[in-house]
Amino acid sequence: MAFSRIELRNFRCFDALNIDISSKSNLFYGKNGCGKTSILESIYVASCGRSFRTSNLESLIKNGSNSFKIKAYDDSTGSILEVIKTKLKAINIKINDSVVTTSELVRTFPSFSIDSKTFFYNDNAPQYRRKQLDRGLFIASTDYAKDWFGYFRGLKQRNAALKIRDISQAKAYDETLINYGTKLNYLRNNLVFEVKKIYLDFVKILEQQNKRAKLFSGIDIRLKSGFNDELGLKDSFIQSESVDLRRGSTTLGPHKADIIFESKGLLVKDTFSRGEQKMLSILWSLSQNIYLEKYFKLSPILLLDDLSSELDAEMLNCFLPIIKYIDNRFIFSNIIDSFNSKIDFSEQSFKKFHVEQLT
Ligand SMILES: Nc1ncnc2c1ncn2[C@@H]1O[C@H](COP(=O)(O)OP(=O)(O)OP(=O)(O)O)[C@@H](O)[C@H]1O
Ligand SMILES: [Mg+2]
Repeated sequence: MAFSRIELRNFRCFDALNIDISSKSNLFYGKNGCGKTSILESIYVASCGRSFRTSNLESLIKNGSNSFKIKAYDDSTGSILEVIKTKLKAINIKINDSVVTTSELVRTFPSFSIDSKTFFYNDNAPQYRRKQLDRGLFIASTDYAKDWFGYFRGLKQRNAALKIRDISQAKAYDETLINYGTKLNYLRNNLVFEVKKIYLDFVKILEQQNKRAKLFSGIDIRLKSGFNDELGLKDSFIQSESVDLRRGSTTLGPHKADIIFESKGLLVKDTFSRGEQKMLSILWSLSQNIYLEKYFKLSPILLLDDLSSELDAEMLNCFLPIIKYIDNRFIFSNIIDSFNSKIDFSEQSFKKFHVEQLT
């Protein structure tokens, strides 16, 4: 499902705001403090019951009010989503008047965000990249979710046994971990392999604009499985037995996975400039969204706050033609409208909102 209309009540700086969004690209632009991030945040909250900025949902209630409400309409199916957060109460989410859990919500209206905390995908800890990778597959595939829970349940029990140095008890969980872990690793590998192909197609478009974009095609991107690929999971567990016992936890396995981005043999996070890292994060996230749509028939929304921050005019210009190739819903913000004469799109596919005019 996908939203076509959003209504906000008492959400951050907005008393009341109604927006009809395009099914493709949407730009919200306006000066500092006009409410761009708030709009993107409301869409994220409506699609997963959490904020990308804060863990304190109460701070999203407009000052002086007791609750916020977000209502979203899906014109294609007639579904209505309602999210209400009242002070001192848990968030309440309903689809067509029936209460749903956040995991049901996430699957119904999937969204991913690139914001100031996540611009630098490569600068974050491996755990962050693993979470991004898993979140996509988790939403897209109920089998992946089952395998993920199966693996992590087994891991918890294995670690509990290792903590009390009971190796035979710990080894009793190996088969469970090998079974689920192999499946997780397979789907993760497949994702990285396929997303990389989509990413390289984007880079080709960038290169046509500016030869500086060549930098992005020379990157080696691969999944680090978290265990010894040559040995496999079973033998990796055998090999790490004494280390695991000493540390009291499972040191190898898919729970240690990461995606590695290297350029000329060095990690991108150590060599790329901030603007280059941000562009790479945008291209990778866009590619992952397209993969999820193509292989799992999911239509995730991609939210990107502050497109042009860190990007120089030349880099921004070479990104603009890419927007034309994004079929999924792409909602992004920018301080200024740098798109006027540069993009030739029909009104239906690309909508611009001057946020000052909306408030
Ligand atoms: N709970 C709240 N009640 C009322 N106003 C709020 C609340 N939370 C934030 N604000 C205000 O909402 C305004 C919009 O904030 P927002 O972060 O959306 O702006 P922005 O357009 O993204 O700005 P920037 O370009 O600086 O990123 C700010 O003035 C902020 O102080
Ligand atoms: Mg902002």
